[in-house]
Amino acid sequence: MTTQGAQIDSLLGGVPIVPVVVIDDAAQALPLVDALAAGGITAIEVTLRTPAALAVVQAIAEARPNVIVGTGTVLSEKDLDASIEAGAKFAVSPGLTEALAHAAQKSNEACPLLPGVATASEAMRASEYGFERLKFFPAGQAGGVPYLKSLSGPLPHLKFCPTGGVTPATLPDYAALENTFTAGGSWIAPGALIAAEDWSAIEERAAAVTCS
Ligand code: 3PG
Repeated sequence: MTTQGAQIDSLLGGVPIVPVVVIDDAAQALPLVDALAAGGITAIEVTLRTPAALAVVQAIAEARPNVIVGTGTVLSEKDLDASIEAGAKFAVSPGLTEALAHAAQKSNEACPLLPGVATASEAMRASEYGFERLKFFPAGQAGGVPYLKSLSGPLPHLKFCPTGGVTPATLPDYAALENTFTAGGSWIAPGALIAAEDWSAIEERAAAVTCS
């Protein structure tokens, strides 16, 4: 297995779901991860889609060292460097470019990249760069469970984190595939519940996954 594969497995291999969040206020970072942890989930992907995102990652990394905090929507070397600087333990991108692949090869030890792919060719190309743990994105729209299942025969060394269109109803079917190691989704902590600071609802949604 490659270094990237081993690192991602050790970080996310035992995690049933990685909540993907868009968060506007760094003051909400700790109540959010505490609610997730109370529901049994200690990983989070903070998307770099808001000005507060890096401050959120930093707050979590500093105050909750046991939480596996990563960045999402990482599009460039600059995003990757900023993620590492903020204390992210992993980074997620929706796709993979040559520039990002080379940047990730340099920073792999500090913060492994989980790159997004949607086809067999994209997965093969990512594998050539040493990425053996991949985000299957956008999972539901790209073909869902049957599509991902069909990649396991020809590409048995690759495992995926389906993200995008994953729902509480489809999560068990993804989890049952032999070529998934976790999954990602925004329904656990959607923007509206974070904005409303409805931490008990987020805890309930986390617990609904971990207790099922
Ligand atoms: C995203 O792009 O925000 C993630 O892929 C989450 O997708 P979802 O909202 O369909 O879970």
